Amino acid sequence: MVAPSSSSLHTAVVAWYATHARELPWRRRSTTAWHVLVSEVMLQQTPVERVAPVYEQWVDRWPTPSALAAEPSGEAVRAWGRLGYPRRALRLHAAATAVRDRHDGVVPEDLDTLRALPGVGEYTAAAVAVFAYGHRHAVLDTNVRRVLARVLDGSALPSPALTAAERVRAADALPDDRSTAATWSIGLMELGALVCTARSPRCGDCPIRARCHWFDAGRPAYEGPARRVQTYAGTDRQCRGRLLAVLRESDVPVGGEVLRAVWDDPTQRERALDGLLDDGLVALVDDDVYGLPG
Ligand code: ADE
Repeated sequence: MVAPSSSSLHTAVVAWYATHARELPWRRRSTTAWHVLVSEVMLQQTPVERVAPVYEQWVDRWPTPSALAAEPSGEAVRAWGRLGYPRRALRLHAAATAVRDRHDGVVPEDLDTLRALPGVGEYTAAAVAVFAYGHRHAVLDTNVRRVLARVLDGSALPSPALTAAERVRAADALPDDRSTAATWSIGLMELGALVCTARSPRCGDCPIRARCHWFDAGRPAYEGPARRVQTYAGTDRQCRGRLLAVLRESDVPVGGEVLRAVWDDPTQRERALDGLLDDGLVALVDDDVYGLPG
C-alpha cells in the first residue's frame, strides 16, 4: 500500500533521476539480464569507477553466460583484475554454468530462481528482476537503505543488517506501476550515491528534502550499534590480493619463490595462500608451483 502522499515523493525522485543520473555502462539500452547480473555482482563491494572498465571487458569477452561457462574459472579470476573480493569471480563463473545447464542459457527472472544461483543474494536477485526484467520489487542496497532510513524513519543510517520491518517499509513505499517502481529504486540508489551520502549529505541539493523526516528533525546523529570499519593495509586480504595478482599477471604457473618475494611475513603469507587454495582461487599445479584454477 502506498500512502496517497507518496506519489509526489515518487515524482520528485523520478524527475531528479531523469536529469541527474550518471551515464554508466550498465545503464545502456543494450544491457541484457546477464550484463545486469555481472554489473551488480561487481558493484556489490567495489565503487562504480573501478567497476566500469572491468565490466566493459567482461561483457565484451563474455556476452552471454554460456560464453563465460565455456572457459576455465581461472579466466574469470584473471579478468576480475583488481576489483577485490575475487571469490565473486568464481561465483559468477558458477552462476554462468548453472544458467547454461539449468536454464538453457537464459538468466531467470523470478526471485527464487535467481537466488538459487551461486553468489546471488536478496539484493542481486531483486536488482536483476527489476532492472533487467521490469518486475516490481524493492531493491535494497546500502544507498537505498540509507535514503529510506532518512526520509521515512528520520534515522541517520539504517541498522547494520537488513530487517524485516525495513523490507515491509520499502515494499509499502514502492510506486504501483512497475516501470515507475524500477525508476524509483534506481533513482533512490543514485540519490544515495550522489547526494544523500553516508558522511557528507548535500541536503541543499536534495529533491525530497522537504519530505525528509531526518532533515526535518535537524539531521540527528546515528545512535545505533557500532559499524564495522574496513581496513586493508597489512591484512590477510591485502596479502591474498598480492599473491593472486602475481598469478593473474602470469600466463604460466609460477614457483613458490615468486610468491614468497611479494610478502615478507611468512606466517601471514602461508595463511593467505592456504586460504586461496581452499577457496579454489589458486590451484597447486605441481610441488610448490601455483596457477589459476582450470
Ligand atoms: N545501476 C544499477 N545498479 C547499480 C548499482 N548497484 N550501483 C550503481 N549504479 C547502478
